[in-house]
Amino acid sequence: MILLPRPASYTAGEGEVDFDGDHLVEYVEGPAEGYRLSVTPGGVRVLASDAAGEFYARQTLRQLAGPAAFRAVPPGRVRLPVCEVVDHPRFAWRGVMLDVARHFLPRHDLLRYVDLLAVHKLNVLHLHLTDDQGWRFECRRYPRLHEVGGWRPDSRFGDRRSGGTTGRPHGGYYTQDDLREVVAYAAARHVTVVPEIDVPGHSQAAIAAYPELGVSGGPVWTDWGVNPNVLRADEAVVEFYRHVFDELLDVFPGEVVGLGGDEAEGGDGRFVRRIARHLVERGRRPFGWDEVLDAGPLPASTVVASWRGEEPGLRALARGHDVVMCPERHLYLDYRQSDDPDEPIPVGTVTTLADVYGYEPAAADRVLGAQANLWTEHLDSPRRLDYAAFPRLSAFAEVVWSPAPRDGDGFTTRLAEHHLPRLDALGVEYRPLDGPRPWQVLPGVPGFPR
Ligand code: ACM
Repeated sequence: MILLPRPASYTAGEGEVDFDGDHLVEYVEGPAEGYRLSVTPGGVRVLASDAAGEFYARQTLRQLAGPAAFRAVPPGRVRLPVCEVVDHPRFAWRGVMLDVARHFLPRHDLLRYVDLLAVHKLNVLHLHLTDDQGWRFECRRYPRLHEVGGWRPDSRFGDRRSGGTTGRPHGGYYTQDDLREVVAYAAARHVTVVPEIDVPGHSQAAIAAYPELGVSGGPVWTDWGVNPNVLRADEAVVEFYRHVFDELLDVFPGEVVGLGGDEAEGGDGRFVRRIARHLVERGRRPFGWDEVLDAGPLPASTVVASWRGEEPGLRALARGHDVVMCPERHLYLDYRQSDDPDEPIPVGTVTTLADVYGYEPAAADRVLGAQANLWTEHLDSPRRLDYAAFPRLSAFAEVVWSPAPRDGDGFTTRLAEHHLPRLDALGVEYRPLDGPRPWQVLPGVPGFPR
């Protein structure tokens, strides 16, 4: 079987057929996002449940066509194996979080990531737009947020406990037009963008722009870690953020909107509750990291991202919330991929390709799905991001699309023989299975392995 993510059923026929890109599509009743793809000597036929199903059938056709189909200029005619594929996803939420706050990801590269998600049949791009180290969302009412909060004069290079600094300013922000473009580009690929503005912690960039927002003042943070300064929970600050979220809602039409809520030392749960209520009044669903469970009673529609293991997710389910599993032990793709001393800036626990592939969400029949998180303290460029993300994100794609149980050896064979050549064709600078290439190491830049 050559596909990845692995379809529910693949039946090989005899021989191959020439294919010039023409296929017949018909819509039929079936599972959401599902399709049946028939490649016969008479041609290619797709029965799709919906537009997403048709889109995924096209991604599968591309996989059948071979690696060259993933180049910017694909071959016109290809030979396809005669086969029948019957397929639909296991989970509705197949997500990736990109932290564009710690290191700004230029828009061109963000659009490229949307393409990479679509290739892997992933359908949620969670954008972490603000943090202590940067504010990336153009705010017209309070422009100092992006003008002041959008850059910092320096960055820690490597772990904060022993690292030096780059000595180089870093910054960038997306205009609202930029983000509307990203949303539309993603929608055309059946990817929903979930924006996040993190409150009441991880807010030092906003506080640098408007010191009255914070418990104390200070500049945009140039270090990593958990900054103890948080937003003040008084009405004026909450009102300020209601305006900021209203602008965000104008740009991002999706139902689910992130309010962060994580790692707010001494943060006041009322802040999270009031912003959550505001989002609900605007017809949206709040989305928060699992610390929001300690904020007191939340709107029932709040979606909880369980990152400190899965226990918080189970608690959230017991309280009636929808849950996205993203336990750091399995799905934090910034964590190091092996114990090899050559791993660049090795942080977190060892999270191998097999660890990601072996992840089985708890309460799988009750959660919305899962997402992989890419925090970027130590991923300062698209090349570093590629190295951390792939091929583990390919393994994750199969976890959230394909039915269990899994066959790790079979996966590794399919990956090596069929999928890494596709990533090569796409220009993805993944981590080779046997370790980093010479130019992917960062000698002397300290990490903090756990
Ligand atoms: C998180 O890792 N602070 C959600």
